[in-house]
Amino acid sequence: MKFSQRSRFAGNVIEEEDAFAADLVRSGKQIIKLNRGDPVAYFPTPKYIVDAYIRALKSSKTGYSFHAGVPELREAIALRHKKLYNLDVGAESVVVTQGVSEAIIFVNSMLVDTGNRAVISRPYYPLYLSGLQINGGAPVFADYRNGEIDVDLLRRRIGRTKGIKYMIFANPSNPTGSVMERKTLKEIVDLANDLNILIISDEIYDEILYNNSEFTSISEVSGGIPAVIFGGASKCFDATGFRIGYALIPGEDELSLEIKKTIADYAKMRLSSNTTAQYAFADAIKDEKNHRIAIRGMVNEISERINFAYDLIRESRRMDISERPRGAFYLFPKVDIKGMDFKNDRDMIRKLLVEEGVQITRGSGFGAQDNIRIVSLPPKDILELAIRKIDKFLDRHSR
Ligand SMILES: Cc1ncc(COP(=O)(O)O)c(C=O)c1O
Repeated sequence: MKFSQRSRFAGNVIEEEDAFAADLVRSGKQIIKLNRGDPVAYFPTPKYIVDAYIRALKSSKTGYSFHAGVPELREAIALRHKKLYNLDVGAESVVVTQGVSEAIIFVNSMLVDTGNRAVISRPYYPLYLSGLQINGGAPVFADYRNGEIDVDLLRRRIGRTKGIKYMIFANPSNPTGSVMERKTLKEIVDLANDLNILIISDEIYDEILYNNSEFTSISEVSGGIPAVIFGGASKCFDATGFRIGYALIPGEDELSLEIKKTIADYAKMRLSSNTTAQYAFADAIKDEKNHRIAIRGMVNEISERINFAYDLIRESRRMDISERPRGAFYLFPKVDIKGMDFKNDRDMIRKLLVEEGVQITRGSGFGAQDNIRIVSLPPKDILELAIRKIDKFLDRHSR
């Protein structure tokens, strides 16, 4: 059977070696997994959220729910953005999805036809590119310089290209951990306004901030131009397995209203997202006291760990990192792959697994083939062991 052309874009680079790693584990090898950004692996979901889930279960919140999300959750999300960013929106501006992943898939399916273009910041979160390409779209890349999207360069790169569908970026960034300055966001808004480009700001890490970073939500600077904001339970509420995310569309202009309606139509196709988890997430957002305690504890610990790992990489002979991360929980150092005896970075990642039992993700999956992505959530002793192993391995393979 011949599968569709588009199906070759299905998949996820972050998990591409999981089956191979599982085989190694079956054959008795121990693997340190630093490929998946799952906080729950090291920070159990806070008890107050688990209790909320149990309460929802016990009160039989187990049926289908409204396709765009239960009112309690949509209201709680709108209120969250009011409290954090002084944004005045109602529940009808929120569509609840099965993770931000589903929101990314929805917006691409909704906006992109074959031959269309969209701007993707680079390095990118892998689903931004595959979500675009699976619908026949092609990227125009917005590269970062010193932790900020280089807006002048992007303007030149767009040139006379017409009809760009949207621009997407993660702020804070996965994989670099950069948090953009308000000034850059304003420049992005100006560009989007000039060229009529819809802004999609993935703010899923908006509370995972450290090293004196100040976060600005796009809604604080967008001045009413159409924008879509992504957020969810996975990272800031440490509940990846809930599979709850959301798209928030603050505008009341014609395009924004059309987006709200059409994302909701997409949501109808899969009936509803996890109902129990929606109620639990609504309670988790509303319980601000417990949330503050939980997020502070987790972020303090992540900050300790990632700064420790960053300093170790700074000392490394074979990895190079300039920008100290200020958000999310990844390190994205450069590696001189051309000066090593690997066929390519995928070959390097596989050999690292076999020889040292460390699983990380290749930079080419994020649009940066001279980099590697290291999830920096584990305790310091594990991070130290892994980084020393990676360094020793790279040293051994250097020409
Ligand atoms: C930037 C970014 N967006 C979206 C996602 C997907 O998150 P979700 O669990 O909500 O599907 C991730 C997951 O790592 C991410 O890093």
